[in-house]
Amino acid sequence: MAQKKAKVSVRGYFKDLKGWFGLMKQRKAWIEAGDPNIDMSDHAAELARELHPGLVKAKIVSIKDETPSTKTFTFSPMEGYQLPWFYAGQHISVKFNIDGRWVTRPFSISSCPQDTEKGFLQITLRLKPSGYVTPWIWENWKEGTEVLFDGAFGEGYWSSIRDTKHVVGIAGGSGITAFRSIALDMATSNRPRKFTILYGSRKEDDIIFFDELKRMARASEGALEVIPILSEPKEDWTGETGFISAELIRKLVPDWNKVSYFVSGPQAMYDYLDGEFEKLGIRKKFIRKEEYGETDDITLSPLYPKGKENETFRITVRFGLDEQTIPAKATDTVVVSLEKAGLAPDTHCRSGACGWCRSLLLSGEIWQRPQSDGVRASDKDYGYFHPCSAYPMSDLVIEVESRL
Ligand code: FES
Repeated sequence: MAQKKAKVSVRGYFKDLKGWFGLMKQRKAWIEAGDPNIDMSDHAAELARELHPGLVKAKIVSIKDETPSTKTFTFSPMEGYQLPWFYAGQHISVKFNIDGRWVTRPFSISSCPQDTEKGFLQITLRLKPSGYVTPWIWENWKEGTEVLFDGAFGEGYWSSIRDTKHVVGIAGGSGITAFRSIALDMATSNRPRKFTILYGSRKEDDIIFFDELKRMARASEGALEVIPILSEPKEDWTGETGFISAELIRKLVPDWNKVSYFVSGPQAMYDYLDGEFEKLGIRKKFIRKEEYGETDDITLSPLYPKGKENETFRITVRFGLDEQTIPAKATDTVVVSLEKAGLAPDTHCRSGACGWCRSLLLSGEIWQRPQSDGVRASDKDYGYFHPCSAYPMSDLVIEVESRL
């Protein structure tokens, strides 16, 4: 059979190549004829760097006692660093090296964004004597101490596209710090238009920023209202008392069913308020919660698996080509076990919400409180989990992506 000859033309290819060489010559000629002082800077990247400067080294320039157990720390950036821009209501993630081990903690910013332009940022902390980090801070942070943090993060800020013009902030204890930032900011920004703070404390002495908040409320011509509510009042207290229940919200907020709620406070208050919001029929999209960090004692959760309280498992941790096996208590989150072993991954919210610590669970079983399960459905399908809110329920093999 006569063989058919394939007809192949390469003329187009050479033509293309020739055209490309011609283009190179033309391009060179254009460059040579152009302005030699052309601005080659990447303005978008510069702006992004300014807005999100990454790790910031700052110095403590002042420490103020707010109550017997609460202090405000004022940071100014060290040379070569700049403070991050943020929305009032957000937090930063502070990094500590305690006895050679890195740990991180999220702390709400108590100053307002306008203060950043003046060169300072504040956080206000309450001492938790049984805690790991605040006793260390009380002992070690002095004027002049260098601190390391990044941020800002969190969803606890007002946004015109999702929140109502009148916002009700429910604060418990040191949860007021984020609301102080919003109150300071709204004096010049109108974000939000009206802000009612229901502020629960145990005793009058425990109310942080009381005089300052009263002063700001007086100056705001009705835009800011602050209502302290004491659970253990003295006899001469004439204000509101008890817990911030559905009934009290109805009494104190006339338009209670038309407002957005921001919640910032201790974990017990979040769980309690879930039930009160349900009684009021408030839809979830109108409730914004500041992340509350780690759970102090997870065994108090009625959902914690019974019988696991005293167990210790082994976690095999892979960081790239590195592999180590560490002990892990069933009552410590995976992140806490990693930190105890000196393998701290970078974390931000420590509440399971932001996804910063997202890691791969290769084998084993974990448990999370449903309220702290912020893992996206698609991530779950591929085996990802958030070690900051997950407790080991068996031996685990995990792969951790980021490390401090
Ligand atoms: S640090 Fe935010 S999810 Fe773990």
